[in-house]
Amino acid sequence: MTFPPIDRSLFPDSATIEAGRLQIGGVDVIELAERFGTPLFIYDEQQLVDRCKEAVEAFPGGVAYASKAFLCKAMARIAHQAGMAIDVATGGEMYVALEAGVPAEHLVLHGNNKSTAEIETAVEAGIGTIVVDSFDEMDRIEAFSAPRDAAVDVLIRLNPGIEAHTHEYLRTGVEDSKFGFPIVDGIAERAIERAVSSPAMRYRGVHAHVGSQVFEIDSFDRAIRALAPFVKSSGAEEFSIGGGLGVAYVEGEQASSISEWGAVARRVAADAGITARITAEPGRSIVAAAGITAYTVGTIKQIPEVRTYVSVDGGMSDNPRPVLYGSGYEATLARSVDRERSSLVRIVGKHCESGDVIVRDAAIQDDLAIDDIVVTPVTGAYGHSMGSNYNKVLRPAVVFVRDGSARLVIERETYSDLTVRDVG
Ligand code: LLP
Repeated sequence: MTFPPIDRSLFPDSATIEAGRLQIGGVDVIELAERFGTPLFIYDEQQLVDRCKEAVEAFPGGVAYASKAFLCKAMARIAHQAGMAIDVATGGEMYVALEAGVPAEHLVLHGNNKSTAEIETAVEAGIGTIVVDSFDEMDRIEAFSAPRDAAVDVLIRLNPGIEAHTHEYLRTGVEDSKFGFPIVDGIAERAIERAVSSPAMRYRGVHAHVGSQVFEIDSFDRAIRALAPFVKSSGAEEFSIGGGLGVAYVEGEQASSISEWGAVARRVAADAGITARITAEPGRSIVAAAGITAYTVGTIKQIPEVRTYVSVDGGMSDNPRPVLYGSGYEATLARSVDRERSSLVRIVGKHCESGDVIVRDAAIQDDLAIDDIVVTPVTGAYGHSMGSNYNKVLRPAVVFVRDGSARLVIERETYSDLTVRDVG
């Protein structure tokens, strides 16, 4: 079977092809691989800026970048400078955003199990908003803030009981979930009442996140309608619809743009009689398609009549999504991107696990050889951020490219990083 070259729409916006070779941001990908080594995360910096600006326009009521998708200081600054707040889900994400120079009032703190220390750090720094997830968390906020006569702005995370059509692990809005206050048995009402009457909290409104990698915008529609009564009766000034907009990873997938998502959300909210500001916190849709990963091919093993395994120098430590969710990706040779792909191979990593797969059934050019640079597009979200040191494999470098030049934003780890905390 012969497959066409990768659909150009899966590459970053600035991708071009020069004599068959892939260029991003005006920089040759193979040269980047030579200069910075592989595996290498390469981001189209202008695309990151453009998606952030698109989000700011799509949600005039305010929008936060969900930093769990990909966070480093350079990314936090891009989102902040474009006018986004930053959604931080842990003390660690909060630390990086603050280190990047993002003022605390532009941060939104999430998490279903915020520690007392995280709450204290956030309130002391002057956090913009805490999205409250449980009554236990309210106890902690009150224990810290009430004696100091301080109050923090809060959104109450409600669970709309909506099943978004996405992977089971990525669904968060179903009733049986660890996230948010369920809207049954008067629990959501009690949570809102407590926030309204607490001296430690300034109730600003309601939050919901239905899940991630959601293609059907209709899922947001249902969540907005389900929560409209709570938003309206509580006098909420803000209603955050969370993140979750899906992106196309492989040929043939179609995703809505952030602009379309914003327009639908605002229209549905208006139809439901909601006057509160509609806000959102996209992660994946900001960064996924702006990033690609470049790997070097190390071994090619042909098992006659079975399959060909192509091993590259990374794997589940830089992209755990295939092994976690069975996620699909496309692959191509960086030196002949415009050539048809007539071999079907399995691209695997270098980890000691059979599940260490990057692309299960990859169509690839048939002259693939050792030392070739293979790229997988749409790896800008939840790859680097969920990466690990499994098998003591070093975390890759990250470069941003724009206007013909590249800047290193995260250095590749070195072996000495592996023992720096090992004090035994
Ligand atoms: N807001 C909240 C409260 C969230 O829990 C999430 C994602 C987002 C916003 C951003 O969602 P996004 O726009 O990125 O879909 N590791 C998984 C995704 C987990 C998402 C967790 N929460 C993956 O690789 O697909």
